[in-house]
Amino acid sequence: MRIVSGMRPTGKLHVGNLLGALENWVNLQEKGMESFFFVADWHMLTTGYEDVSNLAENTETLVREFLACGIDPKKSVIFVQSNVKEHAELQLLLSMIVPLGRLERIPTYKEQLKELKERNIYTLGFLAYPVLQAADILVYNADGVPVGEDQAFHLEITREIAHKFNSLYSRVFKEPKTLLSKVPKLLGTDGRKMSKSYGNVINIDTNEKELKNAIMPMMTDPARKRRNDPGTPEKCNVWAYHKAFGTPQEKLEEIHEGCTSAKIGCVDCKKILLESMKKKLSPIWEKIDELKTHPQLVKDVIEQGNKKAQAVANETMERVREAMNLYR
Ligand code: TRP
Ligand code: SF4
Repeated sequence: MRIVSGMRPTGKLHVGNLLGALENWVNLQEKGMESFFFVADWHMLTTGYEDVSNLAENTETLVREFLACGIDPKKSVIFVQSNVKEHAELQLLLSMIVPLGRLERIPTYKEQLKELKERNIYTLGFLAYPVLQAADILVYNADGVPVGEDQAFHLEITREIAHKFNSLYSRVFKEPKTLLSKVPKLLGTDGRKMSKSYGNVINIDTNEKELKNAIMPMMTDPARKRRNDPGTPEKCNVWAYHKAFGTPQEKLEEIHEGCTSAKIGCVDCKKILLESMKKKLSPIWEKIDELKTHPQLVKDVIEQGNKKAQAVANETMERVREAMNLYR
């Protein structure tokens, strides 16, 4: 079983990316899936083309964080999208068979146009975002694509494109499955959707002091206005974090009992959370630091990954060129 997934290099990853995506990738890798994980830098350009000042640096940062979170270059192919030109060739060829109207009707397309209205993304590149994503996936003939729910529409159109290509020419592509990660979405520290633009994220690459500064002001159950007001953990975002960050069962029980009977205060509860988060994140911090002192390591991983990805992608492209009767 072969899987492919990508992430855009938007700067530092946050804990939502870790729990929602990267841990899932690592699990699949450890289950022995043939895994391809890449930095989707061309996708970044579809919305971020105006400011490219950090693009190369962010690409390296993302690979460093992949590695620190447990993506293992001995088990998975780690590479950079723009370094494997076959993605672009396949996008061009697929674009011949994708109706414009189909792209304009994708709900995420319309949403994004509204959400990012301060940027001018009425561009060919942004409209073609899902075609590029289809190319990313199909060029490796993946069986499955581990993504979040927000990507379901893109996977749907990927399968449609594969199907249309296969029926027009010859059967070259598999129709890949969407592998949704099962973890519930973690909200931001203010209880809204976790998003960098809201400033409510906790980055993976942080330190104890920053972590504490992010946890302590977190919203709790509004019923607990005073220290002796009992609360309901299920209504509290801190509780969701406890569960997500693996606070041990007996501590969870203690907190639950203490919260509903007002025996513990929210500050104590948050101190326990700080410990749980530190436990999970500090090994990652150590690896990030180590990789920062050996920048060549990340570059080598990318170079080797690019080569492996190119070999597979090129094989698919040979079959595509043949199917489309291009002169070879
Ligand atoms: N669109 C994806 C996201 O924003 C990133 C992505 C690009 C991707 N190409 C992909 C994910 C191919 C899976 C497979 O998260
Ligand atoms: Fe939330 Fe913990 Fe306070 Fe209960 S004690 S409201 S779970 S922070």
